[in-house]
Amino acid sequence: MANDDQFKKVISHAKEYGYVFQSSEIYDGLSAVYDYAQNGVELKKNIRDYWWKAMVQMNDNIVGIDASIFMHPTTWKASGHVDAFSDPLIDNKDSKKRYRADVLVEDYCAKIEAKIEKEVKKAAKRFGDAFNKEEFVSTNGRVVGYQEKIDSILKRLGQSLEKEDLADVKALIEELEIACPVAGSRNWTDVKQFNLMFGTKLGASAETAMDLYLRPETAQGIFVNFLNVQKTGRMKIPFGIAQTGKAFRNEIVARQFIFRMREFEQMEMQFFIKPGTQKEWFEYWKETRLKWHKSLGLGDENYRFHDHEKLAHYADAATDIEFKFPFGFKELEGIHSRTDFDLKQHEEFSGKKLQYFDHEDKANYTPYVLETSIGLDRMFLAVFSNALVEEELENNTTRTVLKLPAVLAPNKAAILPLVKKDGLPEIAKQIVEDLKWDFNVTYDEKDAVGRRYRRQDANGTPFCITVDHDTLEDNSVTIRHRDTMEQKRVKIEDLKEIIKAEVDVKHWLKKMK
Ligand code: GAP
Repeated sequence: MANDDQFKKVISHAKEYGYVFQSSEIYDGLSAVYDYAQNGVELKKNIRDYWWKAMVQMNDNIVGIDASIFMHPTTWKASGHVDAFSDPLIDNKDSKKRYRADVLVEDYCAKIEAKIEKEVKKAAKRFGDAFNKEEFVSTNGRVVGYQEKIDSILKRLGQSLEKEDLADVKALIEELEIACPVAGSRNWTDVKQFNLMFGTKLGASAETAMDLYLRPETAQGIFVNFLNVQKTGRMKIPFGIAQTGKAFRNEIVARQFIFRMREFEQMEMQFFIKPGTQKEWFEYWKETRLKWHKSLGLGDENYRFHDHEKLAHYADAATDIEFKFPFGFKELEGIHSRTDFDLKQHEEFSGKKLQYFDHEDKANYTPYVLETSIGLDRMFLAVFSNALVEEELENNTTRTVLKLPAVLAPNKAAILPLVKKDGLPEIAKQIVEDLKWDFNVTYDEKDAVGRRYRRQDANGTPFCITVDHDTLEDNSVTIRHRDTMEQKRVKIEDLKEIIKAEVDVKHWLKKMK
């Protein structure tokens, strides 16, 4: 399938160009654990910074923290993770492969979804400019039928999971005649729950060591610090606490590269609000977060909301921002109205009051919380897979280009002397020296300049700056734009402003307004 091929290309490109490596590869790797390489670490950092700037720097009522990965074990009892942080798993008796039961059903629905897309594409071709997608999907009999089928399957799945009716989840898999992708058989075990937290020990001796968990989400580090931050920062509701950091989950089905990992990074923000205002804030953060995504220009049509049928134990409303990955629309970010569940639980388990005194209302209350939670690695995959394109050129050749948003690109410019002599490398290196105070830039003198352009295109570098013999005469260079391949002659002294105009965070974040 074309999309499978595209995904394979994404994975091999990520390795070949120094973005993502399999962890401990020389020992044949570790399943669902990855290392970020020299370019990947920069892209990841830039995504993290882009999020941090939008959430913390641009909002005077949101502050950041960096809580520890280890937390007191009671945290996880209070949060409900010890008792309820599990996935429903099912084994195929023939292949001995283990699956998440809900994912099997969702994948089944994704296949129906693909049929809808096919119908839409066909109709768009048939009707041309007169095509109205919204009208088509709401009136075409076949499409409406497909959509009704998806809705009813997901509704039943949600209800069964909500009621912990695992026998019905198995019945649903059997009724839909879902087969094991490996064995092709429908010889399934019963569905069981499996806790996803990794356990570890704190302390030197076996008798006194304390059982700990590696945090499965960063959010709890924010909840337990709620009062510390509120008091020391003199924060007034509504206010938010943001943090980025590692989280760990013993995922049953870890696949799809960095989409679902066992060690990953989250960027989360808990927004503390007055009880009763959660609906408005839910809408506000839905809209604000979608604008953040769209500001990066990955294509508005690649996002959609998916409201949850099955709500987590802490939520009274929840939606996912889904992104169109090479393997279809999947969750990229979660927006959850978490009520006062977490603070109340920590109050009960710690015996400490976690309340807020509202000076306007002259009353104490436990704040409600609106959470935005995005996986940094998943965002990396969204950006990277969207950026990788093969372009047909006019001279019947193709080029591979990584059209990363310039604000996120690991290197902003590559400085290339046309030849390795006549003083050109010295000038190129001086340009590197001058620009590196403001941007990550790289120097490349190996191979013909055309090949170097292609290499930088595939690396995602937005600008190539070539120093040639005319530079010796007039201090000008050629600047080549990665996406348009357009070349312009400019003065060396103007380079900084030209690059800044395209890579400056301000220029990108302003699109959110
Ligand atoms: N505090 C809420 C929370 O953790 P979640 O929906 O379980 O909610 C939030 O996770 C986000 O974290 C997801 O939308 C996804 O982007 C990312 N995420 C979750 N599990 C992941 C995994 N195993 N690998 C990579 N990213 C993951």
